[in-house]
Amino acid sequence: MSGQVLLTGATGGIGREIAAALASAGESLILGCRNAEKARSLVAALPGEHEVVEIDLASEKSVRAAVAALEGKKLKGIIHNAGTMERRFRTDEQGREMTMAVNYWNTQLLTELLLPRLEEGGRIVFTTSLTRYIPFLSKSPEVREKDFSQLLTYARSKKALTRYAAALAAQGVGVNCADPGVVDTGMISMDRWFDPLADLFFRPFIRSARKGAEPALRAFSSPRTGRIFCRRRTHRL
Ligand SMILES: NC(=O)c1ccc[n+]([C@@H]2O[C@H](COP(=O)([O-])OP(=O)(O)OC[C@H]3O[C@@H](n4cnc5c(N)ncnc54)[C@H](OP(=O)(O)O)[C@@H]3O)[C@@H](O)[C@H]2O)c1
Repeated sequence: MSGQVLLTGATGGIGREIAAALASAGESLILGCRNAEKARSLVAALPGEHEVVEIDLASEKSVRAAVAALEGKKLKGIIHNAGTMERRFRTDEQGREMTMAVNYWNTQLLTELLLPRLEEGGRIVFTTSLTRYIPFLSKSPEVREKDFSQLLTYARSKKALTRYAAALAAQGVGVNCADPGVVDTGMISMDRWFDPLADLFFRPFIRSARKGAEPALRAFSSPRTGRIFCRRRTHRL
């Protein structure tokens, strides 16, 4: 396969490590990022030739514009690593709750629009989270203001994304999920009074971003599909 690999969220903690590992392995990357300037300085630090496409997953318009900008490209893979855990209820242009819009709705839209550009045997990786196991989570991706909770809405978005990945795998698309575990990045800050305490007592014991990138790298390169790659083991989607 000769195509490029589209990686979203490359400017974040885990994404930088995925980008560095893939670039060192000789892959040509397209970094799909909302902050193009940050992404371009990342490209300058990577070995090899890479591109940047601006994608704000909070906006369907931005996703469609990014797909138009990728016209004519063949993709060897798509690694959906971008994600958010919004502190407060807010909505996108369509009135959909924002964590769900970024982590699920617009990630799904990006996938659907890019599926025809995926090379034969190409791979799609979705980044899920352990939070999908929280008991009694609603399966519905519709989140109303009265149902919003920072952690539970995030968990619902990852559950919905994992179910979507399983549906694609059942259709024969080469899909895997990556579950990074609990990783020392900006994502685990809750923007609450207890963050400094958690940083002191909790952060030293969790996984580094480099370790957190490993499941996505294995999910991308493994000959097996239809699986969730965790810290050490894999299981069926
Ligand atoms: N850290 C953990 O413990 C953990 C556990 C399970 C799963 N995950 C998942 O792992 C993935 C990477 O997270 P991380 O831990 O590396 O967190 P992070 O450092 O906060 O990185 C998040 C990345 O997503 C990007 N992003 C956020 N909102 C976006 C939007 N609207 N459009 C486009 N890009 C957007 C960010 O872009 P900017 O650089 O512009 O902010 C950043 O590159 C996420 O999907 C997260 O849910 C993380």
